[in-house]
Amino acid sequence: MSALGIIGGTGVDQLEGLAIDREHDLDTRFGAPSRPIQEGRVADRQVFFLQRHGSPRAIPPHRINYRANLQALHTLGVRQVVGINAVGGISSEMQPGRLVIPDQLIDYTWGREHTFDDGSAGSLLHIDFTDPYDLGLRLALLDAADRAGIGYEPSGVHGIVQGPRLETAAEVRRMAVDGCDIVGMTGMPEAALARELGIAYASVCMVVNLAAGLGDVPLSLPMMQEILRREAAVVRALLETLLRA
Ligand code: HPA
Repeated sequence: MSALGIIGGTGVDQLEGLAIDREHDLDTRFGAPSRPIQEGRVADRQVFFLQRHGSPRAIPPHRINYRANLQALHTLGVRQVVGINAVGGISSEMQPGRLVIPDQLIDYTWGREHTFDDGSAGSLLHIDFTDPYDLGLRLALLDAADRAGIGYEPSGVHGIVQGPRLETAAEVRRMAVDGCDIVGMTGMPEAALARELGIAYASVCMVVNLAAGLGDVPLSLPMMQEILRREAAVVRALLETLLRA
């Protein structure tokens, strides 16, 4: 089976159960990835792990070098990537503590380096992005969640905002009208860049709060972190099950 790349988000700094064999300190024509990429094995499967916010540095969502991250994984031979994202819940099923495997996204980000197409290839790169997440990888994640006895939402629309601030209540209401179920800051341009490189990409989203204006307590980082700590352990179990398939 081919190597799996895992791009960890907030709260997922490492993969327990991953015996790290080496670190790849790569440079790409877009610069260096967020941190050296760890290579290891889970069962017989080769795994490449990258923390997109860097570690111990914390690169904010709008400053992540998404192109370097995807290019470096591609250079290492990775053709399947699971991205882990912390998100806020918008629709009623998306309660804190829930895992979501989104099937659609809406991109509200701006000003990020969002394509490998700099015009120099002499041809235009209009990728088909009708279904932004890879169906085969999504189904493998759903199957792994079932086998591990982990509850999840099997679909959802992931709205990706610029950040780093959280949203206003009106922005969240507008996103709900647009059809967004969850809101996060790091899902794009990661998904589109993966598609440009021919990498099968899926996302596992951890709902860590109700989106702005939907809860009756103010949003606070410690509250999100506590839920994140618990959910990150569940995500690790999910990935281990996926890798041991
Ligand atoms: N909004 C945007 N990004 C997030 C949120 C949120 O409410 N929670 C975690 N990441």
